[in-house]
Amino acid sequence: MNQGNSNTIDISTEICGIKFPSCIMNASGVRCTTLEELIAIKNSKAGAIVTKSITKELIIGNPEPRYYDFGLGSINSTGLANPGVVKAKEILYELRYKGNCIDYSKPLIVSLAGMHFMDFILMIEFLKDLEVDMFELNVSCPNIIGNKRLLAYDLLGLENVLSSVTSYVHELCKKGFKAKIGLKLPPYQPYEIEEVAKMIKRYRIDFITTINSGFGLVIDKQKTAIKPNKGRGGLGGSCIKPIALANIQQFHELLDIPIIGVGGISTEEDIFEHILCGASAVQIGTYFQRYGTYVFEWLENDLKRFMAMKRYKSINDFRGKLKNYE
Ligand code: DHB
Repeated sequence: MNQGNSNTIDISTEICGIKFPSCIMNASGVRCTTLEELIAIKNSKAGAIVTKSITKELIIGNPEPRYYDFGLGSINSTGLANPGVVKAKEILYELRYKGNCIDYSKPLIVSLAGMHFMDFILMIEFLKDLEVDMFELNVSCPNIIGNKRLLAYDLLGLENVLSSVTSYVHELCKKGFKAKIGLKLPPYQPYEIEEVAKMIKRYRIDFITTINSGFGLVIDKQKTAIKPNKGRGGLGGSCIKPIALANIQQFHELLDIPIIGVGGISTEEDIFEHILCGASAVQIGTYFQRYGTYVFEWLENDLKRFMAMKRYKSINDFRGKLKNYE
């Protein structure tokens, strides 16, 4: 049987008019905080560079162990450890303009985390001259101590962020600002997806990334596998893939903006499924933490071979084309 030639397969993608050399990139969270980690992503086959969520101030994060891989997935309570926006800007400047040679070979996606709309506006204002391609607003970190409601689950708070950030960015755009604004969303129930999709349509949100980690508890030898928050934390990896697919599928039905799929990808078939549900690109978290930047090359090669076998030339040949059971 002729299995097709995987050299002619195109796995590039375009999101909000921005070209990505590959539809496979890292997820915000793991191995994407320091300059060294970001350079490793830049020099890998990843289709974009996504940063760890940045906050206004430095955060040391929660006590270790705060990340644990249990095979079917991972649990973490990192506590948004990051150097803060001032130091992060220095790192991103180095990454972007090192040796006076601007490197546009892959998009830069900066993740921002805040509790209040002003946090996001101040950070965008501070970073606006960096030529960031996209800002991914993390409104869904599950490890906020003190059991505060996630912004993403607080529809009034979320609407506040959407209305103020998008009108602020709209003004910036008149002065030449080009970055696209997206939301990193948590797993939702179907009725919540309807409400959030309606809200997103009312504002100039350019893309969504879904899903951020779930929430769980993992036990190892009768003890909690991680130390912070009585062992409870964000759940990622294979075990959350069905939840990711349901969220991507329903948002794709309701919205016309691009979706970056994340949750449970460790094989080419997982990527295929995310794209079938409507994702325009995918992000890799747990599997990237497990094996490092090699995963982007492995997944690219495996996806190309898989597509060649199925006679797909580009991801648009099957994107959003999931068939129902008959
Ligand atoms: C953290 C942030 C997240 O958005 C997430 O999904 C999991 C963990 C954190 O830094 O604690």
